[in-house]
Amino acid sequence: MLMLSENVSLLSHNTLKLQANARWYAELHKPADITDLRSDPRVKQLPMTILGEGSNVVLHADIPHLVVRPLMRGKAIIEALEDGALIECQAGENWDDLVRWSLDQGLYGLENLSLIPGSVGAAPYQNIGAYGVELSDLLDSVMACSVVDGHCRRFTRDQCCFGYRDSFFKSHEPGQWLVTSIRLRLSRYPRLRLEYADLQHRFESLPESQKTPEGLRSLIIALRMSKLPDPAELANVGSFFKNPVVNEQLYSQLRQRFPDLVAFSQGGGHYKLAAGWLIEKAGWKGRRLGSVGMHEKQALVLVNYGGATAAEVQELAAAVVQSVWALFAVLLEQEPVNFPVL
Ligand code: EPU
Repeated sequence: MLMLSENVSLLSHNTLKLQANARWYAELHKPADITDLRSDPRVKQLPMTILGEGSNVVLHADIPHLVVRPLMRGKAIIEALEDGALIECQAGENWDDLVRWSLDQGLYGLENLSLIPGSVGAAPYQNIGAYGVELSDLLDSVMACSVVDGHCRRFTRDQCCFGYRDSFFKSHEPGQWLVTSIRLRLSRYPRLRLEYADLQHRFESLPESQKTPEGLRSLIIALRMSKLPDPAELANVGSFFKNPVVNEQLYSQLRQRFPDLVAFSQGGGHYKLAAGWLIEKAGWKGRRLGSVGMHEKQALVLVNYGGATAAEVQELAAAVVQSVWALFAVLLEQEPVNFPVL
């Protein structure tokens, strides 16, 4: 039964722990629930905001319309492939549960994406990525339904227009599509991805018996836990800014001024700068403004020490952007999504 609730607090629905109310709130258990909402006279005309586990959103104010939480469950191997399998997972599953389940099935590829907070449905929106792997490397297709009329369609990987923390759903038609399930192509043969230097170094020092996908998953979990605050203990939404990409000219100027600049070549004369390094160099690592601050172990993560308001978050973010601009002439772009859209 589809339940529509009024004036629901979203405090426990966002990992940055900002207080905001949804005028209307519904949990979806099947795609057809959207059609039901669209025929309910109370909400049929209202904009619909989709909230997964709230681990990549900044709630700036009350949401004066309808908030929906996809809770469709289920994961299954749907087709055997020559060297692996096609799996399907519903949007309401927890991402890391899927990673663990896939390894339990003897299906590999997701291990570098271990412990990323959030739901499966949210994963394609921002094309989650970590330690040299992005969701788009493994994704076959996405099933999504229109929030306007509930019609559903399958998007091939190309149609998802994936980029760095970006997709069709996030940038091309934002707010128009609710992801209901995803399909991934996983391999029966481990092909461990160790391009991320720190990871390779740590992996090589493991005993032979642990040089497995499971061993890699354990390493990734340990690495994340050593750097990134657990949202259950210290409210945060992971990286608060994207790593900015700059051209050769700016890169060379910066390299001259800052020989220890952390940058990764993207090819074609473009360089991705480590935003955490820029923020640290600008003096923000471990610095606090009221109830918010930039984390002491990873300057790219904005944390709420308790009871912060959205205004405090915005003020700190603006101050960080300004300092980084003043020092490097590099503009940081926020990574998590703003609700309501600013
Ligand atoms: N660095 C510093 N100071 C800091 C933080 C980082 O100097 O306070 C430098 C270090 O040299 C470090 C480099 O920046 O080697 C890169 O840092 P890190 O490995 O922690 O990764 P990141 O670029 O800051 C990105 C993703 C993370 C992902 C990690 C690992 C983005 C915006 N963030 O962070 O994703 O876990 O790589 O692959 O691309 C997220 O999206 O929420 C997220 C946590």
